[in-house]
Amino acid sequence: MPLSPGATNTTMKTIGVLTSGGDAPGMNPAIRAVVRTALQQGCKVIGINNGFDGIFDGDIEELNSRLLSEMIDRGGTILQSSRCKRFYQPEGLDEGRRRLQELGIHGLVVIGGDGSLTGARELARRGMAVVGIPASIDNDMAGTEMAIGVDTAANTIMEMLDRIRDTARSHRRCFLIEVMGRNSGYLALTTAISCGAEIAVLPEYFYNMKRIVRLLNERFQKTRDNSIIVLAEGVCDAYTFITRMKEERGGDFEQEIRKTVLGHVQRGGIPTHFDRMLGCRFGELAVTGLLQQETGCMTALSKGRATLIDLEQVIGRKKHPAPELLRLARNLQIEFGDPVEL
Ligand code: F6P
Repeated sequence: MPLSPGATNTTMKTIGVLTSGGDAPGMNPAIRAVVRTALQQGCKVIGINNGFDGIFDGDIEELNSRLLSEMIDRGGTILQSSRCKRFYQPEGLDEGRRRLQELGIHGLVVIGGDGSLTGARELARRGMAVVGIPASIDNDMAGTEMAIGVDTAANTIMEMLDRIRDTARSHRRCFLIEVMGRNSGYLALTTAISCGAEIAVLPEYFYNMKRIVRLLNERFQKTRDNSIIVLAEGVCDAYTFITRMKEERGGDFEQEIRKTVLGHVQRGGIPTHFDRMLGCRFGELAVTGLLQQETGCMTALSKGRATLIDLEQVIGRKKHPAPELLRLARNLQIEFGDPVEL
């Protein structure tokens, strides 16, 4: 969606901003960029605390640059976040739309993942001027190459996998590491590649347990080497997967197996350079878009450029793993199952 230069919306005096769903490192740089850009353009900015719930609770505060001055390097979100149940119902959305009007908010920036941007789309359908910013470590939003938080989470996982490899190597063990991502295998696949894991188990593809067990057995018998399996949480939990491995083998493995569930450590931490830049670029573009009368859209990274894309084209669409990544994994001899989509 191209921005039309010069078509500034003069009625857009007050912009609201909220973060919703699972927090993601880089949300704070995005909030900061929204505030600074809006102030620069002569608007007032209202921070809505605790996600969409803050709209109903009137939990708001005016934001200024000073409040956000030390925030660019902080993980999480200073506005706090929630998964608002009221926004799943049409009546709740109608009520939310009314409340935003009562609060005097003319345009809204929603920073969050799939569910949050569905809420943004619904508000836009009800006549609210809204621009969304994709932020979720899962990287499951169609229409954008990257969401805010993915890079930091991937770097955290990479560091953890490297550490686990040290101990796995020392004890000749096999480690199964469960990573987040909900129904997306992006984090599992890319960290398996960057850490040189032997196996990635992804929700998008059928895993082949026969091949996995054969690979582990042969590797251990021939070389006594350690092995790393990265399991995306969307497949099943680590305990269940090990049980299935043992069922296929018909008992315990000769090699010792350990499991690690990385959990919420993946969501925290200092945002990387990439996520800070993405937060700044998306935050600035969201406000610029609103001021140029764009609505019902989200910021997106497309061929490395920050752009706006219609939410109607994005919501409900499945994001597929990039074929290039799958080819890479295949050529680097990572076992990731059969390319038959589930
Ligand atoms: O969507 C982000 C995410 O971290 C998923 O990867 C994970 O499945 C989920 O949120 C965890 O949610 P919660 O923090 O509510 O346990």
